Amino acid sequence: MFAPEGPTVRELAVQALSSVERGYDLLAPKFDVTPFRTPDAVLDAVTEAIRPLGPFQDGLDLCCGTGAGMDVLAQVCRGRITGVDFSMGMLTQARASRQSTGRPAAPATGAGPLAPAPAHTEWVRGDARALPFGAVFDLVVSFGAFGHFLPRERPRLFDQVRQVLRPGGRFVFPIAELPAPSSPAAWMLLAFDVVMRVRNAVWRPPFVMYYRTFRPDRVRGELTAAGFDVTLHALPALGSRADGSPRCGMIVATRRGGR
Ligand SMILES: C[S@@+](CC[C@H](N)C(=O)[O-])C[C@H]1O[C@@H](n2cnc3c(N)ncnc32)[C@H](O)[C@@H]1O
Repeated sequence: MFAPEGPTVRELAVQALSSVERGYDLLAPKFDVTPFRTPDAVLDAVTEAIRPLGPFQDGLDLCCGTGAGMDVLAQVCRGRITGVDFSMGMLTQARASRQSTGRPAAPATGAGPLAPAPAHTEWVRGDARALPFGAVFDLVVSFGAFGHFLPRERPRLFDQVRQVLRPGGRFVFPIAELPAPSSPAAWMLLAFDVVMRVRNAVWRPPFVMYYRTFRPDRVRGELTAAGFDVTLHALPALGSRADGSPRCGMIVATRRGGR
């Protein structure tokens, strides 16, 4: 699961006993070789599913980490793209890896009607629950971070996203159905959840990471209540469940109020 150049067990243990912000500061230099970084297959599937909804002007990658979602924005936005995260370590890593690899703020190739002009890139330190922007974005994406928010924090989080979107702007993210209740994957998720709850009952600061609580049906209702019109798009490229239904979907939440 972890590459040899990834974090050691000791490093992971120290990170897990820290706060979320500090834990990611520590993990940042090795984050891109962990399974926690959103895989390219997911980024590619979301990019292709977003394309027909565009073109977009300005985009935000919420909880950007080392910038996985920035590569999506660079392909579908023509204007400024911004990554926001509260971990300075992750932002520093994101900046450094793009400088050293020349990885794009905009893709090197990309013909076709929606091919963007090179986007201007910014990295901003900020908490997703108190975003430091006005209504200046047309598209907000987020990958792999919702487990860090307690269910009771989500109304505030979604309200923050609504406030930084221009009317008619889109909040887009992939979401997976929970595995079937008796499957090994479901037991693994449950075990992880129990370990987290025990850890947080006996240790401070807490490390919030509860992925079982982020369920499509609930999230759709919460987004609707926060002022979005919500649709769920299948992402068949990411596999299917035993009953043939797609394993992953993409939520498209459109800020009400027209353009
Ligand atoms: C699992 S990483 C995902 C990073 C990246 N989006 C990806 O898909 O590879 C979760 C990220 O969320 C950030 N994060 C968690 N809670 C946050 C908050 N309240 N405000 C801003 N960033 C937050 C962490 O610092 C971390 O970089």
